[in-house]
Amino acid sequence: MNTEIATTESPESTDIAVRTAVQMLNAGEAIGLPTETVYGLAADAFNEEAVGKIFEAKGRPKFDPLIVHLPSKAALADIAVVTEELETIVNVLTTQFWPGPLTILLPRKPGVPDIVTAGLDTVAVRMSEHPVFRKIIKDFGRPLAAPSANRFGRISPTSAAAVLEELGGLIPLIVDGGACGRGLESTIVRLEPPEDGNVTARGKKKKARIEIVRAGSITAEDLKNFGIVIRPKRSARAVPGAPGQLASHYAPGTRLRVLDDPGDFTPENGKRYGLLSFRGEAEDGYLSLTHWSEVAVLSPGSGKMVEAAIRFFFLLRQLDHSGVDEIIAEPIPDRGLGMAMMDRLRRASTQAADGE
Ligand code: TXA
Ligand code: MG
Repeated sequence: MNTEIATTESPESTDIAVRTAVQMLNAGEAIGLPTETVYGLAADAFNEEAVGKIFEAKGRPKFDPLIVHLPSKAALADIAVVTEELETIVNVLTTQFWPGPLTILLPRKPGVPDIVTAGLDTVAVRMSEHPVFRKIIKDFGRPLAAPSANRFGRISPTSAAAVLEELGGLIPLIVDGGACGRGLESTIVRLEPPEDGNVTARGKKKKARIEIVRAGSITAEDLKNFGIVIRPKRSARAVPGAPGQLASHYAPGTRLRVLDDPGDFTPENGKRYGLLSFRGEAEDGYLSLTHWSEVAVLSPGSGKMVEAAIRFFFLLRQLDHSGVDEIIAEPIPDRGLGMAMMDRLRRASTQAADGE
């Protein structure tokens, strides 16, 4: 299959890209689209055959459910059931974070195909804030199922070139919407109403529980004003409940290891190592450990998490292609977006450790 790339550099080319994308979605194709987090592989959520093409192109097992992207907040009612006890918290979160990188798990409406939710009674929903994605889904007028546009278990793509590398020849179209502004996937949350009603005996409002199922672009700190935030467990293996929250994920082809203590590193003779460093500072004790064949610095100088997040998957991909035998990742401070990046690094290294 020939994979066409549609650019969006001018208003004219954007119009053509949007029209082509909508035509293909209407024809039941799965296509690569930009979102603010990572590129998605999108298809009509209500067309089972089209959704099947997502699984096929990605090589994704059918037990791993997809996120449904909405054309509008109103469309939430077509997909999910917002129970009375969750209404307040859902309203607060969608007002605050939609459109944007927050995915909410809710009971699904019966009409949502089983293939989308992997037969679960919940559905993951979000609304992207990417301008090109929004144009396309608005013109298409219906929800789109869209996982990240990488082959199953591999590094998520944050550019059209990365999607082409992952899925070139397997899908008919990639809309190039430029680099993803956030660089990490959406945060997935599960909600629980306050126990025994929304208000206390004294008439005070009680807080709902917001459980982070997948750390992502919206941080625990961002959420904490809106409910009692339950952070995900540190170990990738301990993440409960969600199919697809698989321990081995986000893996480069090259072996990757998170080196928690620089003192634990004994380089093997003749092996080429690449370092993924957070700030690239000598004081951290990583730069001087060995003769690194490659060094990629996530947040040189500024130490800002936002910068590191935008560069994260891009640099992992680059290290993966650099020909080193092993990537050594320096731990990233486990706060804010750092939590999301550490989650991905630990999953990537789990796979290497399993030798899968
Ligand atoms: O930022 C994002 O979320 C990107 C962009 C393209 O929107 N999408 C994305 O999708 O990261 P994906 O498929 O790569 O990751 C979605 C995760 C999977 O781990 C899946 O198992 C989980 O969401 N998921 C989907 N539906 C679920 C459900 N009903 N219950 C629990 N987990 C669910
Ligand atoms: Mg993914």
